[in-house]
Amino acid sequence: MAKEPETTSSQPLRLYRDLADWYPLLTPVGNYAEEAAFYLRLFETHCQQPPRTLLDLGSGGGHNAAHLKAALACTLVDLEPSMLTLSRRINPECEHIQGDMRAVRLGCVFDCVLVHNAISYMTSRTDLASAIATAFAHTAPGGVAMFQPDFVSETFVTLFHDGYWSLPILASAGAMLSP
Ligand SMILES: C[S@@+](CC[C@H](N)C(=O)[O-])C[C@H]1O[C@@H](n2cnc3c(N)ncnc32)[C@H](O)[C@@H]1O
Repeated sequence: MAKEPETTSSQPLRLYRDLADWYPLLTPVGNYAEEAAFYLRLFETHCQQPPRTLLDLGSGGGHNAAHLKAALACTLVDLEPSMLTLSRRINPECEHIQGDMRAVRLGCVFDCVLVHNAISYMTSRTDLASAIATAFAHTAPGGVAMFQPDFVSETFVTLFHDGYWSLPILASAGAMLSP
């Protein structure tokens, strides 16, 4: 059976372009409060001086920044102009820059660099290495760069095998359909 082509971040995703206005309905900003507080605690614990500035690479709708900006001056970088437009609506006080996390160079450093779930779009070792290099190029001495993928190999469960959905997803679909 022919393998599905890999999705890479050079293949535009409609959710982040013409469907971007739907994004906050799928993943509301309020849902990010707890994890943003956790990231802030980690930054405060591990930065060698009290952190003041944050660079968010792949910032999307700015939903983490919405909770972090009270404590940190946030600069938000995303590939997609539609996502930056969304984020500007809720984070007008933050700087927004269109750029690719694999290549962008802003010519300055930050106490904290966050690459949240957008790191999952780095689907080759070369892209991943480039994104990590970008994060480190923007991390101030004594600062912290943090990567927060949605999935890690230790807990990853494959839901699709050889063209068929696997049991966990069928079970959850069944639970949703049961009265
Ligand atoms: C799930 S969203 C991020 C959500 C974000 N963490 C938040 O707080 O709202 C993923 C984002 O990654 C961005 N992205 C994907 N590849 C990228 C790249 N190479 N450079 C910069 N941003 C990228 C997409 O445009 C999209 O906005």
